[in-house]
Amino acid sequence: MCGIVGYVGRQSAAPILFEGLQHLEYRGYDSAGIAVLDRDGALAVLKREGKLRDLEASLTEMPRGSAGIGHTRWATHGPPSERNAHPHTSAAGEVIVVQNGIVENYRELRAELEPGLAASGRSWQSDTDTEVIPELIARALADGLSFRDALAQAVGRLRGANAVAAVYRREPGRIYAARQGSAGGIIVGFGEDEMFLASDLPALLRHTTSVYHLEDGDIAEIDADGVLVSRGGAPSFAPQPTQVNLDPVAVARGPYRHFMLKEIHEQPRALSDTIRGRARLSPPRALPADLTFSELALRNIERVLVIGMGTSLHAAMIGRWWIEQIAGIPADFDNASEFRFRAPLLGPSTLVVSVTQSGETIDTLGAISHVRERWDAPQLTITNVEGSEATRQADASIVLRCGPEIGVASTKTFVGSLAALYLLACRLGHAQGRLSDAELSGRLEDLLTAPSLVERGLQLSDRCASVMRQFTAASNFLVLGRGIEYPLAMEAALKCKEISYVHAEGYAAGEMKHGPIALLDDGFPVIALAPRGPLFDKMMSAIQQVRARAAPVIAVGDAGDAELDELVDHFIGVPPTSALLTPFSLSPVIQLLAYHIALARGLDIDQPRNLAKTVTVE
Ligand code: M6R
Repeated sequence: MCGIVGYVGRQSAAPILFEGLQHLEYRGYDSAGIAVLDRDGALAVLKREGKLRDLEASLTEMPRGSAGIGHTRWATHGPPSERNAHPHTSAAGEVIVVQNGIVENYRELRAELEPGLAASGRSWQSDTDTEVIPELIARALADGLSFRDALAQAVGRLRGANAVAAVYRREPGRIYAARQGSAGGIIVGFGEDEMFLASDLPALLRHTTSVYHLEDGDIAEIDADGVLVSRGGAPSFAPQPTQVNLDPVAVARGPYRHFMLKEIHEQPRALSDTIRGRARLSPPRALPADLTFSELALRNIERVLVIGMGTSLHAAMIGRWWIEQIAGIPADFDNASEFRFRAPLLGPSTLVVSVTQSGETIDTLGAISHVRERWDAPQLTITNVEGSEATRQADASIVLRCGPEIGVASTKTFVGSLAALYLLACRLGHAQGRLSDAELSGRLEDLLTAPSLVERGLQLSDRCASVMRQFTAASNFLVLGRGIEYPLAMEAALKCKEISYVHAEGYAAGEMKHGPIALLDDGFPVIALAPRGPLFDKMMSAIQQVRARAAPVIAVGDAGDAELDELVDHFIGVPPTSALLTPFSLSPVIQLLAYHIALARGLDIDQPRNLAKTVTVE
């Protein structure tokens, strides 16, 4: 995933573009670039490999020009380098383009365009798929098309999902944008005598809250006075902006050292916002407004399939547990990227629930359309982004209201997704008559304690830091859990891998003796998630087996659990809670353990290598 910005107005474009890119750096950060046109069409392009700060040093060299586009890259085709950084320019230097997405047929297009390039004594300037786009536009212009039509024709020839922004030297007071499929979206921002373009709202908020989201197939022609959109063959129209209700403070790091830490600490508030109005106690009702399915449809659900990727998949695994335990409905989970290429047996009585904080993850969107194309199964999506592609494709949505999540590691949206899944289990159980009013009330009252469980978990930050400082040099961790804590063990391991670059595996504790135990010795630390619950004794046996191999054990269990504390090397006590609510008491601790080891190792926590916040490419 990459970040795109654009500006046209009366001010100097380069600093505005750069500032916008700073808010999009979470989307990609291996190289960046800016192109600016002055009033006479003189073009200046600045590109650098590395983070935005590497571009910043040369920003003062950029001439003043009041229209331009910018890009921050997450490499797909060709390694991170200045040569592959966007913007890319047509061979004749007239058409300048930035892109987010993948041109799946770029090889064919290159082969088609190559003879023309060679005849004019030119060759490709990068390894990217992007470079075919300015060339296709240039060809269409040479055939006599207007720039807008040339852009539409070029984008129409691309396979895959793409968002494109472009400038044309012969039209210096204009920027263009196109959206084809779901490529993380592209938004037009409305100012006073100036207009903006960005892949995501945080890049716009300092300038405007008046926006228009381009739809699939839209071509936007933007100048300082407004935007005209063309869609299909219909006449162009001036879209009405909508107002976004988002505070610029929500996208600022504030006093926190990292966005991840800020977002970990925002969890009690984020959880309360997710739950607000959705856990009504009298008369008891879960999700009174979000599930737009009829009561009859809810009663007829015979099976639930929960899908997602990464952290969202771990939330899906916990959701499966709750749907079985609370609603008493058969439930499964699946990895969306695998599910979409299988031929599972679904039908109109299977509810498919997709979990995706961004609502734009390509694997999850692929799975949603796989379901839509093959089965008449009802679909619900759980996402943090209102209006995201997942909300457009599913039949109903639960929008989390966690506020923007900027850190690459999902934290507050994980606990938000958990709350939504718990509420869903309650609603289904009640709709199907398996939960009485009183039982539903009790379950909802339990959930209302979740924000305070998380709050108390956050108070363990110093303890997590002091434990993890002792393992700064560890190259491996095994994380064990059972039952509802097993997906949490996987989530803890994922967090360690992605921000600390420590190899970590999350395992069901019962599985350990079937292989992984061979790895253990005194240099292989094990994190055991062992709150008191139905499987506690089995966890204790697994911990004994680990101890017998001399591996150091860090246990996360109920505060005051002297038996566990005595058995292990390091004990972290979380607030005791009911067996179904441990995901809320344990989540902040597993996040903080990973955060503090990354911090002790001096790593770039908000922008871990090779990753991007939203994965919009295959
Ligand atoms: O936006 P989504 O929830 O669909 O994203 C899915 C995964 O890419 C995401 O959870 C990823 O694993 C996170 N970086 C984990 O912290």
